[in-house]
Amino acid sequence: MTDGGEVKTVSGRGIEAAASDVDARVENKISALAPEQLEIVRRGAEIIKSGGLVAFPTETVYGLGANALDAEAVRRIYETKGRPSDNPLILHVSSIEMTEGLVELNWRARMLMEKFWPGPLSIVLPAKEVIPSRTRGGLPTAAVRMPDAAVALALIKFSNLPIAAPSANISGRPSPTDAETVRRDVGDKIPLVIDGGETRFGVESTVIDMTGEHAVLLRPGGLAKEEIEAELGEEVLLPQDQTIIKRSPGTRYRHYAPNVTLILAAPDEIPADAENWAWMGISEPAGNPAKKIKFRDDAEYARELFRAMRALEKSGVSAIYAEIPEERGIGRALKDRLVRAAGG
Ligand code: TXA
Ligand code: MG
Repeated sequence: MTDGGEVKTVSGRGIEAAASDVDARVENKISALAPEQLEIVRRGAEIIKSGGLVAFPTETVYGLGANALDAEAVRRIYETKGRPSDNPLILHVSSIEMTEGLVELNWRARMLMEKFWPGPLSIVLPAKEVIPSRTRGGLPTAAVRMPDAAVALALIKFSNLPIAAPSANISGRPSPTDAETVRRDVGDKIPLVIDGGETRFGVESTVIDMTGEHAVLLRPGGLAKEEIEAELGEEVLLPQDQTIIKRSPGTRYRHYAPNVTLILAAPDEIPADAENWAWMGISEPAGNPAKKIKFRDDAEYARELFRAMRALEKSGVSAIYAEIPEERGIGRALKDRLVRAAGG
């Protein structure tokens, strides 16, 4: 050991102690569930164990879950969503111990888990053999995440299996943030939709690649890049910063498309001849929108984005003008979703 023989520990304690902190957080959340909720989650766990699909709430969006280790169950997820088979799934876990059975951890990844789990952070790491190729979309890596929602944690824990879950929408539609929307999209194709009310974040998890020398942000999301950088003490690269461009395969497809034309604009950029248009953003737009959604701040804009798009597409306007957020904090994820919804 150099540096006076000091041993690197996580948060100033041993790794064992820190890992049990995560377990304690999980136990606390699960113990807050009401008996009726526990009963439904137990039914869900039976379905997962027998290879079926269950939609469930997380803190970000609703997920469409199945046993991540069962290739046939995972095939049903792709079929139900109409999802391209090369777009890998996130494995949802309820403990770091479970994670160790699935992927090769490194200390930096572990440090992020201790700090941010349960929470909206998915970490891509080298996959172990137990994960079927189908779950990984054929990649040698896999994304793991511990959701910060009691129902999701209990579902994983009671089934004692990692749950592969994409957002519970038909591919290309906005990610659902309430159970009613899930039922409309996939309700008639699956045996159980667990209702946990509206999700807290409304935007998906941040996906970060920790397989290489540098951390790489594959998808901006609920956890800000700046927070990850502060914890790692180093810059998190963007895919374009690398010589070999690693992309999150899911980001190639057009996503979250509302049925109405969506145009990104500054508040003073609305064409004078625009008619029957809607505005959404944090500023007051110039001109007279037929419909207006004004958010308190970027956090609310991000959280309510999908719901707002659905509301505006139903309102009968012919175009939605969406304010371009600043690229910092949650604004980065927000802008990413808006650009996708606008079709690039
Ligand atoms: O918040 C969320 O992450 C939600 C909730 C349900 O947990 N899930 C979600 O899953 O958004 P999905 O399938 O809609 O998006 C997963 C993203 C995709 O962009 C996918 O390409 C990427 O994670 N991903 C998964 N495994 C990967 C891997 N091994 N390498 C690179 N990207 C990966
Ligand atoms: Mg999705």
